[in-house]
Amino acid sequence: MPQCWERVRDRFHAEKTERQCRIFQCINHYVKHWGFSLLLRVKTRKAINKLEQNGCFCIFETDESMSGEGPKEKDMNVIEAIHNRHSYRGKYKNIPVPREDLIKIMQAGIDAPSGCNIQTTSFIAVDDPEVLSKLHNVIDPPVGETAPAAICVLTQRINAYRDKCFAVQDYSAAIENILLAVVELGYQSCWYEGHITDDDRICDRMAEILNVPKNYELVCFLPVGVAESGPVVMKKKAFEERAWFNSFGQMQ
Ligand SMILES: Cc1cc2nc3c(=O)[nH]c(=O)nc-3n(C[C@H](O)[C@H](O)[C@H](O)COP(=O)(O)O)c2cc1C
Repeated sequence: MPQCWERVRDRFHAEKTERQCRIFQCINHYVKHWGFSLLLRVKTRKAINKLEQNGCFCIFETDESMSGEGPKEKDMNVIEAIHNRHSYRGKYKNIPVPREDLIKIMQAGIDAPSGCNIQTTSFIAVDDPEVLSKLHNVIDPPVGETAPAAICVLTQRINAYRDKCFAVQDYSAAIENILLAVVELGYQSCWYEGHITDDDRICDRMAEILNVPKNYELVCFLPVGVAESGPVVMKKKAFEERAWFNSFGQMQ
């Protein structure tokens, strides 16, 4: 059986004729019922032929966004984005990140859950080369200095109820959402927090540059851009060492 994967994706739905969606839902239903998966995105006729020869059902779709040097939107579902996210510490290509994408990325942060919905996390996207350069002047040693944009994550240490402050959990959820959106849109990033919040408090100098009010704290710097090279994939502990069923250490 050829190994296939499911691609139920936006571009198809973006066109959104009702008929297309209905046809697609039917196909998807039957393909799943027969124990296959559906591959929606293949680039060439040759690739389709190969898949068809292998007994794979596919729908051809051309994609202009895949051409050229710009970010290659990855058209992936959230599980794929999770698997494909890795901290990227390499150089970035000199390709601007459109505002539209920065908005999507920040919206992903805004959409994150927060304790008691207090929404303690805020974001500043920086794409002005002058402001970026001011930030990089204080980030020592430098990180992500070739990225054409960055998201600075701010938190307000507000109690959600009684003495419970969930600010850290709130911004962590937001950052992960952001990192996944970054990957989905074809960019790379890295969660830089330890680096800027150490004793030398680089974050406070960054906050000053960005005119952040005193009741907010800058806690994380996320470069955003098209990667020049592949990310280094960190080894994770085996599933069995960290995840179980019904009882600690139990795999059954
Ligand atoms: C709270 C937190 C702080 C981090 N701070 C830094 C940092 O200051 N510098 C850095 O290079 N990476 C930082 N990282 C990224 C981690 O090093 C990285 O997530 C980890 O090595 C696993 O690699 P992966 O992200 O590729 O899975 C941070 C990650 C988290 C969650």
